[in-house]
Amino acid sequence: MGKGRVLFIFGGTGDLARRKIYPVLQRIMKRGKLKDVKAIYALSRAGFERGYLDTLDPDLAKLIRFQPFDVTNREDYRTLEKEISNFPGDELIFYLALPPHLFGTTIVHTGSVLRHFLNPRKIVIEKPFGFDLESARKLNFQLRRYFTEREIYRIDHFLGKVSIQNILSFRFSNYIFEGIWNKNFVDNVQISALETVGLEGRSSYYDRVGALRDMIQNHLLQILCFLAMEPPAVMDPERIRDEKVKVLSSVRKIKPEEVDRYAVRGSYRGYEEDLGRPSSTETYACVKVFIDNFRWEGVPFYLRTGKRLKEKKTQAVITFKEIPGNFGKLIGCMPERNRIAFEIAPGNRVILSFQMMPPTGFLSCPLESRMEVSLEDTFGGEVPDAYETLIEDILDGDQTLFIREDESEIAWEIVQPILDRWSEGRPPLYEPGTWGPKEAEEFIRRDGREWVLV
Ligand code: BG6
Repeated sequence: MGKGRVLFIFGGTGDLARRKIYPVLQRIMKRGKLKDVKAIYALSRAGFERGYLDTLDPDLAKLIRFQPFDVTNREDYRTLEKEISNFPGDELIFYLALPPHLFGTTIVHTGSVLRHFLNPRKIVIEKPFGFDLESARKLNFQLRRYFTEREIYRIDHFLGKVSIQNILSFRFSNYIFEGIWNKNFVDNVQISALETVGLEGRSSYYDRVGALRDMIQNHLLQILCFLAMEPPAVMDPERIRDEKVKVLSSVRKIKPEEVDRYAVRGSYRGYEEDLGRPSSTETYACVKVFIDNFRWEGVPFYLRTGKRLKEKKTQAVITFKEIPGNFGKLIGCMPERNRIAFEIAPGNRVILSFQMMPPTGFLSCPLESRMEVSLEDTFGGEVPDAYETLIEDILDGDQTLFIREDESEIAWEIVQPILDRWSEGRPPLYEPGTWGPKEAEEFIRRDGREWVLV
């Protein structure tokens, strides 16, 4: 048999593996892409739920080998070593589908085993990369001890979403928007990831993490990068990631004594009951960020996210400046601002909101009108699952949509002062089914603005 690949999935019978990894591998396989995969090891303490493998395509199920495995037990890595020795020269892909507190030990032990082999290798880990700046640095240190950056795939699944990738394509393939994509025209940018779900059986993870770490440090800052970055000199993974790093490095650092002016947290009423114990973890967070560079200086970027809110909606909205007051006087009203929205959920849409004269008369107050384009309607067919894109990229060795070491650390630097401040005190409460705490409304109103969804 010629050279091939072998997948080792730590946590291979767990939730992420069952819900995402195998179904995606199945779809990729149907497209004829897994031909060179010789085996898929599901390494886990517990076996598959009865009947699970029968739900998979037989061709895929036949490749999956369950191996009882405790990632904290050194002995188990001897078995891993033995298995690896059966695949000389094949590419080894290690996927850590594990709770984040097990990353460190798994990396170190696997890395030690790999010292005995010359096989090409890749390691895949999922956000959160660390718990704060210090632990992120430690995690990166552990990774870099055993793997090169070219071998490391840090997944932020939002980057696998087509409507987030479209932000870059939209910006850099249309001339008409580029000229207005800056502080001269843009009043503010809002990135919202609002959810109706609560803890969903992940309470021990979520309560340790909270909304700021779970969503803002990674997903929302990634969207911010795509919205704010400069076009790369060439469309190459490293150059694209360099531009994202430049944006993150230009984000104004929040001083510890300023945190309350830049960030608000909240917790939904009933969170402690759902959790079964007292907690001061935030389930809602909003942050105001400034990017101190030539393009964006003075334009606030508002990032917000929360659980148990009124609607599931993930949108990035660019609001343009108000028209000059004199013109407002002429038509007897101040028209709504122009907006461009990238909707990521529930739809995959781009929405342009602008003003039109109503048929009632010339120079009467214009009405808000919109143009909407859905990716599905335009291109037909279904938009692929984020994991499908990412897992294919891992197989292909394309790192564009993965988080680089420096990127993850700079993103932690941005949120660290807020984390420090929020380690004390308790978040204010908000009612489930609303848009979050009233403090968040007051926060944006103080800037003379409102939260918007288009
Ligand atoms: C995950 C968070 O990374 O993203 C979850 O841990 C959140 O708390 C989820 O619900 C949201 O992702 P999506 O793709 O459903 O918008």
